[in-house]
Amino acid sequence: KKIKQAQKELLAWYEKAGRHELPWRNTQDIYRIYLSEIMLQQTQVSRVRDEYYPRFLEKFPTLQSLANASLDDVLAAWSGLGYYSRARNLHKTAYLAQKSLPTDYKELLSLPGIGQYTASAVCSFGYNQSIPVVDTNIARVLKRYFALLHVKDKTVWEYAQKLLNHKDPKNHNLALMDLGSLICLPKNPKCEECPLQQECQGKTEAELYTQTKKKEY
Ligand code: ADE
Repeated sequence: KKIKQAQKELLAWYEKAGRHELPWRNTQDIYRIYLSEIMLQQTQVSRVRDEYYPRFLEKFPTLQSLANASLDDVLAAWSGLGYYSRARNLHKTAYLAQKSLPTDYKELLSLPGIGQYTASAVCSFGYNQSIPVVDTNIARVLKRYFALLHVKDKTVWEYAQKLLNHKDPKNHNLALMDLGSLICLPKNPKCEECPLQQECQGKTEAELYTQTKKKEY
């Protein structure tokens, strides 16, 4: 019951405060969604959105155009983004997939440059499959919410699974991502603006900590 309530509040918050205008959230094109996830791995959202993403898509508007391009042209289009293995893998994956990316998580994982995060992001954001997504922002939210200290990645993933909203998995995951990057900040989280503040065990811990500090001084 608690989980249901949290899911509802999370979605309502996302509706109101989420970053809906991001271009890769306004497309059904799996190639565009996949490309954004690769670019966003090591590059700031604003730079991907305003510079690299539109520029790259102008040169390679489809997966097939990328597959047919020479590696040199792909690397040239990637310039400025760094971590060129990402571009090499992108090109290889386009070549292997040809017309379209697979819909199956395991098949996606088998492609070059696609790890757990990217495979789950493509399945969730691209195909709206009921699968948890865990990036560093989401992991921070979950660790605080469930008071997970020094746990393995696998444990965080299990809690993500527990909290997953099977009725709207894509927006649920995007909501958690935005909560992590807009509210549940690494330093000075804005707990008073958080839709999950009532049940959050991280907040309770932070309060207890502050109270103890006050008493001590
Ligand atoms: N929306 C979907 N995936 C994203 C990401 N990796 N970073 C920011 N916004 C996103």
